[in-house]
Amino acid sequence: MSQAIVIPPHPVTLPTSKRTIIFRKVTAEDLTALEMGGMFTHFRRVYARALVEQQQGLRLLLIAESANVVVGRIFTLFRSSDKRIADGKERAYLYSFFVHPDYRYEGLGTLMMQYIESLLQARGIACITLAVAKDNEGALRLYKRLHYTILRESPGQWDYIDHEGKRQQVHEPCYILGKQLSGSKQTSFSFY
Ligand SMILES: CC(C)(COP(=O)(O)OP(=O)(O)OC[C@H]1O[C@@H](n2cnc3c(N)ncnc32)[C@H](O)[C@@H]1OP(=O)(O)O)[C@@H](O)C(=O)NCCC(=O)NCCS
Repeated sequence: MSQAIVIPPHPVTLPTSKRTIIFRKVTAEDLTALEMGGMFTHFRRVYARALVEQQQGLRLLLIAESANVVVGRIFTLFRSSDKRIADGKERAYLYSFFVHPDYRYEGLGTLMMQYIESLLQARGIACITLAVAKDNEGALRLYKRLHYTILRESPGQWDYIDHEGKRQQVHEPCYILGKQLSGSKQTSFSFY
């Protein structure tokens, strides 16, 4: 996984509201929109770095857009120093999953997960991992409905440099979840 992935914009219709949403890859023009009007300004540098790594084929940044407004995102990391979550070959890690509050409970999150799974499977990914905060019951329910299972616990400690250049520490105890994509050969998932 070392070449930037080409993905054509993919339209979907939300089941109840019938709103049209476009799933597409993030470009440099989306960096400000990813901050969602101030909600994620602190991740400005994180997004800019992730975009560079997307161009190197190390990440895939997917957004959901409604009438040219970014309303959701889900990112994939293909290679991590922790091979248990992403090994650069058949195991990839989903993170930064978010749907704007005005668009929740309409099936968008589920559609985004299903879409990213299909994209990853088509690119040879057999196992998907992700982290969910232990107290995030709604997200945990969604993942379990999509057949993710708990692999282990993690202290959820990491840090990042915010938009003012200050190092910020995050401590969010979480579960590491995993899913073997159907049709892929069995791997030693349980060892992780
Ligand atoms: C987690 C998150 C991405 C889910 O997004 P979403 O678009 O609301 O997801 P869905 O609509 O597919 O599913 C959410 C619920 O809506 C319900 N739903 C789906 N379609 C629906 C519809 N047409 N009408 C009513 N309810 C619907 C689902 O059954 C689900 O119900 P549940 O809460 O009982 O499980 C969103 O809540 C979010 O951004 N949360 C904050 C960030 C976060 O926690 N991210 C996960 C980090 S691990």
